Amino acid sequence: MPVIVISNPKGGTGKSTTSLVLATTLARHGASVTAFDCDPNRHLVAWKDGPTQNKVEIVGHVDSSNIARMLKAEASRQQFVIADLEGTASLMVASAILAADLVIIPTQGSAMDASQARRAISFIDDQAAAVGPRPYRVLFTRTKPGFATRDERVIRETMAGSGIPIFKTDLAERAAYRSMFTFRQSLEEMDPAAVNGLDKALENADALAGEVVENLRINRQAA
Ligand SMILES: Nc1ncnc2c1ncn2[C@@H]1O[C@H](COP(=O)(O)OP(=O)(O)OP(=O)(O)O)[C@@H](O)[C@H]1O
Ligand SMILES: [Mg+2]
Repeated sequence: MPVIVISNPKGGTGKSTTSLVLATTLARHGASVTAFDCDPNRHLVAWKDGPTQNKVEIVGHVDSSNIARMLKAEASRQQFVIADLEGTASLMVASAILAADLVIIPTQGSAMDASQARRAISFIDDQAAAVGPRPYRVLFTRTKPGFATRDERVIRETMAGSGIPIFKTDLAERAAYRSMFTFRQSLEEMDPAAVNGLDKALENADALAGEVVENLRINRQAA
């Protein structure tokens, strides 16, 4: 089943947060999910060591010599495989992209972030030149719900104008997404009285997971 890789060579764009939100949301809906933690900070491994009962499986022991094989092997037994990649353009990132059915590029809505997202796309396109199309889609992260800054609007329009695919759903800025790492729980496990905006965070996570699944379906049909 599909391998979804979360990649951006720029640090701090929301790769680990997106990976955990997506993986735990798909698992909450009953899917079998493995998330590979390829971030040197091992945030997902640390999260799984906490009290969470979410069924997502986390794999932390991968390197550039085995990542493609590990992703493919896991994809033969799980409904979704997700890889949280490191914030550099490394051999491991390249191998994971080659094994991916979809690359999600999280980016924040500033010009500097957008230029790094283009670097990520150029890295993907270069591999596509050798092996054929590698489907990717940009995900805006940490956006203010219901309020797009002018910068953000211009960046989105420019990207869309140059044919870069963008998720309709953003991963909005929500304290709940940070709290997942603090309490080492998934969204549905946290106390709505203790975590601000948990219902909105769940709604946003569901919308994103739905759009990712739909995107994979369309790509599969087109292939
Ligand atoms: N949607 C969000 N809402 C609130 N905080 C967020 C969100 N996305 C990311 N953050 C915060 O932004 C910071 C960077 O996020 P994250 O660690 O997910 O990025 P990353 O791309 O994995 O970074 P790295 O390149 O270092 O691996 C973290 O402090 C995280 O809690
Ligand atoms: Mg990370």
